[in-house]
Amino acid sequence: MNNNTNYIGKPVNRVDGYAKVTGGAKYAADHHARGLCYGVVVSAGIAKGKILHIDTTEAMQLEGVFKIFTHENVSGLAWFNHSYKDMDAPPGKHFRYLQTDTITYSQQPVALVVAETFELARYAASLVKVTYKADAHVTNLTGNLDQARPPKGKKSGFKKPSSRGHFDKAFTAAPVTLDATYFHGAEHHNPMEMHATTVLYYKNGSITVYDKTQGILNTQSYVKSVFGLSGRKVKALSPFVGGAFGSGLRPQYQLFMAVLASLELKRSVKVMLTRQQMFSLGFRPITQQSLSIGSMEDGSLQAIKHEAVSGTSQFEDYVENIVNWSGMLYHCKNVKQSYQLVSLDTYTPLDMRAPGAVTGMFGLECAMDELAYKLNIDPLELRYINYSVEDGSMKKPYSSKALRDCYQQAAERFGWSQRNPEPRSMKNGHLLTGWGMATGMWDAMTVPARAKATFTADGRLTVGSATADIGTGTYTIMTQIAAETLGLPMDNVTFQLGDASLPYAYLEGGSATAASVGTAVQKACMQVRERLLDLAKDIPDSPFKGLSVAQVSFADGMMFMTETPANFIHLKDIMTLTDTGEINVTSTPLPNVFKQMKYAKNTHAAVFVEVQVDEELGAVKVTRVVSAVAAGRILNPKTARSQIMGGIVWGISGALHEESVLDHQFGRFINHNYAEYHIPVNLDINDIDVIFVEEQDDVVNPMGIKGVGEIGQVGVAAAIANAIYHATGKRIRELPITLDKLL
Ligand code: MOS
Repeated sequence: MNNNTNYIGKPVNRVDGYAKVTGGAKYAADHHARGLCYGVVVSAGIAKGKILHIDTTEAMQLEGVFKIFTHENVSGLAWFNHSYKDMDAPPGKHFRYLQTDTITYSQQPVALVVAETFELARYAASLVKVTYKADAHVTNLTGNLDQARPPKGKKSGFKKPSSRGHFDKAFTAAPVTLDATYFHGAEHHNPMEMHATTVLYYKNGSITVYDKTQGILNTQSYVKSVFGLSGRKVKALSPFVGGAFGSGLRPQYQLFMAVLASLELKRSVKVMLTRQQMFSLGFRPITQQSLSIGSMEDGSLQAIKHEAVSGTSQFEDYVENIVNWSGMLYHCKNVKQSYQLVSLDTYTPLDMRAPGAVTGMFGLECAMDELAYKLNIDPLELRYINYSVEDGSMKKPYSSKALRDCYQQAAERFGWSQRNPEPRSMKNGHLLTGWGMATGMWDAMTVPARAKATFTADGRLTVGSATADIGTGTYTIMTQIAAETLGLPMDNVTFQLGDASLPYAYLEGGSATAASVGTAVQKACMQVRERLLDLAKDIPDSPFKGLSVAQVSFADGMMFMTETPANFIHLKDIMTLTDTGEINVTSTPLPNVFKQMKYAKNTHAAVFVEVQVDEELGAVKVTRVVSAVAAGRILNPKTARSQIMGGIVWGISGALHEESVLDHQFGRFINHNYAEYHIPVNLDINDIDVIFVEEQDDVVNPMGIKGVGEIGQVGVAAAIANAIYHATGKRIRELPITLDKLL
């Protein structure tokens, strides 16, 4: 049997690639309608205080300005039902825009100017005069560590820090100890596409909302809850998203603004944030962490303490899993963890790619490198010495963990065995070369998802789920799974997402989409298989009579008897002969929780990095990265590699370039655009080598998928900091490692 419809594991091109590079793909701000008007948001100029007066006179005198929404004229229009929480909301109170004269954070939206054209709205917004009474604000985390307190409540996915054994006793007794404190400032997601919403208004009062989001159902339920609309009145769509990285996990304020204006003015409205306003959204929280590690002379870990303090807002307690990794990654009996928050006068932080792990593993993996030097043991050897086959915090074995193979394969590809451990040993004039390594770790999560499948008599299959593709490749991998399961050419398969009317899917986040939606898509297609077999049995003299679905195979548009492939029938013929127009199914996969609860489920990576530091300028160049990733079964090595490369680029960015700078005098993030918010350009990125170490894992889900969206970034910043130490002998514990810190 010649099978041309095996797509899983193949590096197929993106099915949405052509639409994306030719402009066919329409993003939230690309939609248009007759009479569409434009909203521009006015942002607060102080961090804390009260609005005394908003003078809109001059702006309103311009012809073509329709309305200026402020807290003075929208109170009471919008409402939240009290139990409302968006799908990614941390404990606390959802911020309600334009409801009060109180200013809670700098750049809080205080007005929306709606006008006939974008240019007019923008000009009118510049004429809105806001006067404030400013109060003293607090935005400095490190100056207010005495305010640190445990977080209130729990956010979805948050794991309480867990301690075990007797840290203090073991640490005191340990012959070799290390104490180190690490710090990084805030980072804003800054995807290429700014947050935008276009609302199309229809005469019957219903609306279609095109939103930039990682979960279209999150958008729809926000609009329903805030404006008291029924689901039938709100169509919500988000077929294309130009990057999000976590910024689309919560509804952002342009959504509120656009819907508010549309309903009030009974017109179609578009609101897009400016690049500067992207710094008024959530961000990776400012965090200080301390690690204390005690070990024997032979490198075996005796005690680990990991403590972190992060900033949050005054109205929500954003939390993430920062310290937990220290109780999981290595074999160690005595672990102490704590995680605290300080309320600051900023907006609430928000999940950003591998939230918590990027931060916590930076601390842990730098500390392991520092310890390796104290012990005079190779940093990779130290990881082998303390390798753990179980998650020590839950005392559960891993469903699969090929980290040892990751270390070995990446080290070999990199040439780690050639390393002279001596700092500054690779000096060539004013150029210092350094080699560093670190481990990455992330969760292999499954979240609820359903999918529907429609197979029609023309041999076409349409599969849909209300999930998202934020550039990750969802369209492509779901098409691969569906096509292979039903044995159809990919060209015959269409996958739909980003539509709130499709079956339920959770937010695209946490690297859980491939596993969760993928399982739902596979199951829906398995259900179609069963229906096709049942139909085939109705055909006179059918050789399929009496067969179970496990006894047939699907490939090349046909159904075969697996034992005797000469018995086959084209799927189209099954439909035509039985006069079946279409087959419709919806799947609700049930995860195997009883099996899963016995295991820890994680992805791992080993990252090796070469840096070149110009000693006279302090400039750092990452010349080589080798990353080996163990993330279960890889559905598409091309899109998966792109995910890992993107993560590595961001790791380089976080280590060397990226920082949202808080000016405490104004309590404001002062970066306005990519000129002041440094991200790597082509010249900053050199060799990146990605290795996938595939794992067989029948615990996580039937296909063994673990997800690759986040693991690529974890550990990269630590590997770079460690390589910089090896190059220069300077241990920099604060990110980003800018040249001033090296001079
Ligand atoms: Mo990601 S921070 O799970 O979108």
